[in-house]
Amino acid sequence: MADFSARLIAWQRQHGRHDLPWQNTRDPYRIWLSEIMLQQTQVSTVIPYYARFVARFPDVAALAAAPVDDVMALWAGLGYYTRARNLHRCAQVVVEQHGGAFPASVDELAALPGIGRSTAAAIASFAFGARATILDGNVKRVLARVFGVEGFPGEKKVENAMWTLAESLLPSHATDHDVSSYTQGLMDLGATLCVRGKPDCLRCPFAVDCVANVTGRQRELPTARPKKAVPTRRTWMLVLRDGNAVMLEKRPPSGIWGGLWSLPEATDEAALAERARAFGSDGVVSPLASLTHVFTHFKLDIEPRLAQLDRRVGGLAALGDADTAWVALSDLNSFGVPAPVRKLLDGLQGSLI
Ligand code: ADE
Repeated sequence: MADFSARLIAWQRQHGRHDLPWQNTRDPYRIWLSEIMLQQTQVSTVIPYYARFVARFPDVAALAAAPVDDVMALWAGLGYYTRARNLHRCAQVVVEQHGGAFPASVDELAALPGIGRSTAAAIASFAFGARATILDGNVKRVLARVFGVEGFPGEKKVENAMWTLAESLLPSHATDHDVSSYTQGLMDLGATLCVRGKPDCLRCPFAVDCVANVTGRQRELPTARPKKAVPTRRTWMLVLRDGNAVMLEKRPPSGIWGGLWSLPEATDEAALAERARAFGSDGVVSPLASLTHVFTHFKLDIEPRLAQLDRRVGGLAALGDADTAWVALSDLNSFGVPAPVRKLLDGLQGSLI
C-alpha cells in the first residue's frame, strides 16, 4: 500500500483529534510530559493531571528543581508510579546534561529515563518534525489488522517485524507538519476506530485494503498472547465396590470440588492400595482407563483403580467416619458428585464384578 501515509494524514486532518491540551504546541517539555502520562493511561484521565502539572511546573527546570515528594503528590492517582520517579529524574538529566533543552534525536531521547523507543519517536516527531515512527499497543493493533501481521506482537520476532513495517510506512518527503499529523493519525485511528473490541471499519480509510476487514478476522488480529501451558496434577482414585454400591468420600469444604462427594484419593499407587486396605479391601487394585479433567488453572490426570471389598464393613457408622459413605450407583443423583467422577462411575453401571 504505497499511499498509506498520505491516506492516514488526510484522514487525520479531517477526522482526527486536534484539540487535546498537549496538541498545537512544539514545546518538547509539554509533549514529553503528556506522552509519559499517556502511557497505559486514557486521555480523559490524563487531562486534569496534565493541566495541574503544567500550571505547577511550567517548564523542565521548574520540574527538575522540585522535591521528588511534590512530584509524587501531584502524580498521586495516575498509577504506575515508576513513571513519576523517572519523570523527575529525566527532568534533572535534561537540565544537568542537556542545558535544559530536550535533545532532538530519537536516540538521545530514548537514552533518557522513562523514554522508550516509541515515546522517543512521538516526542521527536511532534516537537522536532523528525521522521520517526511510533509503535505502541494501539499502533501494533492497527498494523496487525491492516497488513495481516500474524503472531503475538509482544513476542520479540513479531515486534521487530512490526518496527520494520512501521518504518517503511513513514511519509517519505514529509514536511514537519506531515510527520506530526501522521503520528497523530496512527494514534487517533487506533484510539477511535481500530479499537480492540468492535472496530468501526465502516469509517476506516483503509477498510477496502485492510486484511482483517476484508477477511473478517478483526477479532483474530492482532494474535492474542499465547496461553500459558497449564500445569498437570495427577491423582489416584479408589473405586471400591461392594456389588452395586461404591465408596464415596466427602471432599474438604475448600479447594477443588469443595464439599462434593468424590472417590477416595491418594497421591500414588501404593498409598491408594493402603487406603483400599484400610477400607477393608484386600488391597489389590486393578487399573481402569485414566481420564483428564481440565480446570481453569491446571489439568488433572485421574488414575482410577478398582478394588473389591473383602468383607462387608458396613455403612457410614461402621466406618466411624461421617466423610465416607456407601452409595448405590443408581442413587448418585442424591449426592453432589463432580462431573468427571460421575462419568467414571456411570461407566461402571451395569458392569458386573
Ligand atoms: N496516546 C499517546 N500519545 C497520545 C497523544 N499525543 N494524543 C492522544 N493519545 C495519545
